Formats: sequence, C-alpha cells, structure tokens
Amino acid sequence: MSQPIGIFDSGVGGLSVAKEIRHLLPHEDLLYYADSAYCPYGDKDPAIIRQREKAITEYLVKQGAKMIVVACNTASSTGLEELRSLFKVPIVGMEPGVKPAVAATKNGKIGVLATCVTIAGDRFASLVKRYAEHTTVINQPCPGLVELIEQGKLNTPETREVLRGFLLPILEQGADTVVLGCTHYPFLRPLIEEMAGPDVKVIDTGLAVAMQVKRVLQEHNLATQETTPGREFFFTSGSAAEVSEVIRGLWPGDNITVQRVELP
Ligand code: SIN
Repeated sequence: MSQPIGIFDSGVGGLSVAKEIRHLLPHEDLLYYADSAYCPYGDKDPAIIRQREKAITEYLVKQGAKMIVVACNTASSTGLEELRSLFKVPIVGMEPGVKPAVAATKNGKIGVLATCVTIAGDRFASLVKRYAEHTTVINQPCPGLVELIEQGKLNTPETREVLRGFLLPILEQGADTVVLGCTHYPFLRPLIEEMAGPDVKVIDTGLAVAMQVKRVLQEHNLATQETTPGREFFFTSGSAAEVSEVIRGLWPGDNITVQRVELP
C-alpha cells in the first residue's frame, strides 16, 4: 500500500488546498487533520500554534504520512521552519500570494486579507520586503471571518456584512488586486469577486501549492504508483459530527467520515 500525504489546518480551510491536491494528484491517499478544537489559530499565541503543529505533524507521520502540507497560512508563518528542523519528511507550507499579486497589479496597489498573526509575522514582513518594495500593500486582518466559514456560513447576510467590512477599505484605497492570505478565504471567493467587481483580480495560492506538492513528491521519488482513485481520511480535534457536516458542504462526494482524534 502506498503512503498517504498528510495535510492539516486549524479547521476546514485547508480543504481549499486539499481540493487542488486531489485534482492534481488523483491517485494519492490524503490524510486531513482539522484542528477544530483550537480554531482559529489567527488570534492565538504563536507558542500555542507551534505546539499544535508539532503534535499534529507527529500524529500524521505516525499514521504513515510521507509528506506534510501545512495548509494554513497562520501555521506556516509561525512554525514551518521549526517543523522542517524536527521531522524528516518533506514539508510544504503556504505563503500569501504577494509575489503573484505584484506581478498582476496594474496600478501598483494590492490588498492582503489574512489573519492578525500572519500579518504581524516576520515571514510576511520579509515577503513584502522581497517582492513588494515598489508596491502599495494594504494589509487587512479579518478577525471573525474564519469562524463563519467554520460554521459553513459561506453566503449568509452575516458573512456578507463581515466580509464587506474588511473588503471595502481595501477597495476604497484603490487596490486592483486582492490576495487571499488564509486558506479559509477561497471558500468566499464567489462573494469576494461579486463585491469587488470584474476589474479586481483575486489571488489564491492553492493551485501553486498543489503543484509544489507534486514537484516535491517527484523529487523525493515518493509519488504513488497506484492507478486507482486516491482516498481521503478526515480527522479532527473537535466534534466529529459538527466537522463532518461542514466538510460535506465543502468536499465533493457523500462518503465522508470524520474521526475524532484528540492530541495533547
Ligand atoms: C486561522 O485559523 O485563524 C486561519 C488559518 C489560516 O491562516 O489559513
């Protein structure tokens, strides 16, 4: 039996990345861990987030994961380097799409939607310094948005109002490109595009990360030789019943079971 790819996020947001991986690598088995009991990460102490990342990675590796995808911008900005130093398996993480946004903007103004922790982190500061020195970057922390997505509220009046409060300041300052700097936000992409209008480009790095996963598997000779459809196994630290209901709204197919696994 071939080994699975381990993927984790604070909750269901990383499914936006897992979907791209599934599309690109249809024969790979995927283990997905949603750390729902600790969600959101975006307003937590980085020390707690790092501790969760270690525990989850250790669990996924023990389950046989041949590589780990940190499908969470907040966790990647906080603990990616430490995970790489602690574990032998290849580890791929996220970063807000500042580089593609700088390439896409026509008027030199980009907006970044992300969590407070991601925006305050050194990794984000160095990304902006590296790629956006001559670009106006409007940073917009979005507290509360992840929680709505975790409840499956992708297009409710409440979600529209909260999202508008974050998007309007960016649009009013003239940004023509908006970066989705959290893996939960692609689930709001239809709403964001509707509110921003056709002249604003929306940047999501899910596909780029899936392509990186494919490259890394090939480089390490880890790609599966199976030709049958890959399977998905879902785990959560939260309520299995609640999380499976939300996953059923976000993941294709109806054969979804979620197992509760508490990690210290
Ligand atoms: C969060 O848990 O607050 C957001 C996850 C992310 O940044 O992708």
